[in-house]
Amino acid sequence: MSAVIEKPAQTPNAGRHVIDEQSFTHAAGLSTGPVSVEPYRSPAFFELERERVFKRAWLCIGRVEQLPQENAYFVKDLEIWKASVLVTRGKNNKIRAFHNVCSHRGNLVVNQTCGVAERLVCRYHNWQYRNDGELIGVPDQKHFFDLDKKTCGLTPISCEVWEGFIFLNHQSKPEVSLAEFLGPFGTRYAGIPYFNLDETIVIQADFKANWKLIADAFAEPYHVPSLHPATLAPGFAHPEQNRYARPLSAMAHGIHRHFSAYGNPDYVPAPTSKVEQLVYVQDTGGVLGGDDSGNAAALTAHPAINPTKDRSWSADVTWIFPNFNIDYSTGGFWTHEFWPVAHNRTQWTLKIYIPKTMSIRHRLQLEHYACRWAEVVLEDVTNCERIQRGLESGAKDTMILQDAEMLIRHSLHVLDKWVKADHVADALS
Ligand code: FES
Ligand SMILES: [Fe+2]
Repeated sequence: MSAVIEKPAQTPNAGRHVIDEQSFTHAAGLSTGPVSVEPYRSPAFFELERERVFKRAWLCIGRVEQLPQENAYFVKDLEIWKASVLVTRGKNNKIRAFHNVCSHRGNLVVNQTCGVAERLVCRYHNWQYRNDGELIGVPDQKHFFDLDKKTCGLTPISCEVWEGFIFLNHQSKPEVSLAEFLGPFGTRYAGIPYFNLDETIVIQADFKANWKLIADAFAEPYHVPSLHPATLAPGFAHPEQNRYARPLSAMAHGIHRHFSAYGNPDYVPAPTSKVEQLVYVQDTGGVLGGDDSGNAAALTAHPAINPTKDRSWSADVTWIFPNFNIDYSTGGFWTHEFWPVAHNRTQWTLKIYIPKTMSIRHRLQLEHYACRWAEVVLEDVTNCERIQRGLESGAKDTMILQDAEMLIRHSLHVLDKWVKADHVADALS
């Protein structure tokens, strides 16, 4: 891999290192006072979230590459729905989703997490289903009573795809389409090149903490100098120009949002970091790795990415309400899913998309990239369970958010709207 990456086109902002002091919070139309911590510790609020948010919003469950061929399937347990979900690719590449529940006596049909099969067979009495959900085989059918196989297929789940991301909706007739749900975010972020999709590094963990606490850990860069002094701060902050890693931009897009992370333009690996020096890709916000195939140039040229086209840019952090995060950098992209289990339990999944390795140096780059990320995200989640304990102690009823933490404030604001709204259309307005 060579070391030359095309930079964003020069604009009046290019090269600007003085961080704009406009308030992101005011620009998003949000209030600035302390915010209640009840949504993080209340079992009653959690049940409202389950019914009014997670059972009405479109939820991203994965990408189309997880279904690489006809008859491929994957299964995911969604505790927040108390359901096991089966997603399949059928004829004509049609992607469908079903409750993974047998029509006979309710057994879970598929027990593998993924695979390829023409017929999905329930292992209790061998009822068989096609991957479009139709019931096609019932042993000893003649001894059932007027059994009509046509009416005994798998129960479908509303399923739509946006930019390769598969979304599900618990409502059998969703109140809004996925496009309506994504609103201005969906159009703004359409057409982004998703590259380096060959392989995925998956990091998964369960926490004794509310799902929003894990999500908040990735929603603001204010913590970078204090929580990541060695791993991220040298590349994502600047001792004079941007000491607290203030974002280049942070905006709400309807119910969704983004911030653009600053990257230190003067960053070079420390002389003691021998491995990083070997793999470092100049001019790409090197701590994140880089791609030189032309994809990175196409990414940075997209108007939604690094919207101020600032040369001191490292990554864009985007949020699709309620629990999905897509991050973009010149090295590719990665996603976070924050799946609520209980008011103080969460399952977190980080997927880092990487290319197949082309050379030993490339392999070393990817290994370094993955190790760096593992270290960084471990730092990120280190406080979450402690915060849960702190909030459940009742010592504080509110928390205080600064301007760079606007995304957390916006998330809570939108959540409040969804919990109160009788109709999804009202929650989107
Ligand atoms: S429960 Fe599935 S075949 Fe009987
Ligand atoms: Fe962090």
